[in-house]
Amino acid sequence: MANTLTVDGIEYPLDTQKTLLENLESHAIKVEFHCRDGHCGACRCALLEGGVEYVTYPMAYVRDNEILTCCSKSSQNIKIATY
Ligand code: FES
Repeated sequence: MANTLTVDGIEYPLDTQKTLLENLESHAIKVEFHCRDGHCGACRCALLEGGVEYVTYPMAYVRDNEILTCCSKSSQNIKIATY
């Protein structure tokens, strides 16, 4: 069964080969971003459920319950909230 990405309570299919930011963009979800390589923190979202793997080490500050969507992927069902 395909994995899902739930954003602000709405469920979408998750492409595990793409970063979360690319997933958000492919579903035309408007989110903040700038550098796209883990430095600026503009893409920060709250992680509500599930986990991510970073493809690039996140340099921007994130709290324990936050992730950077530009440099992370997930291979499990995940729930996030945008700011
Ligand atoms: S867009 Fe800059 S850290 Fe993600």
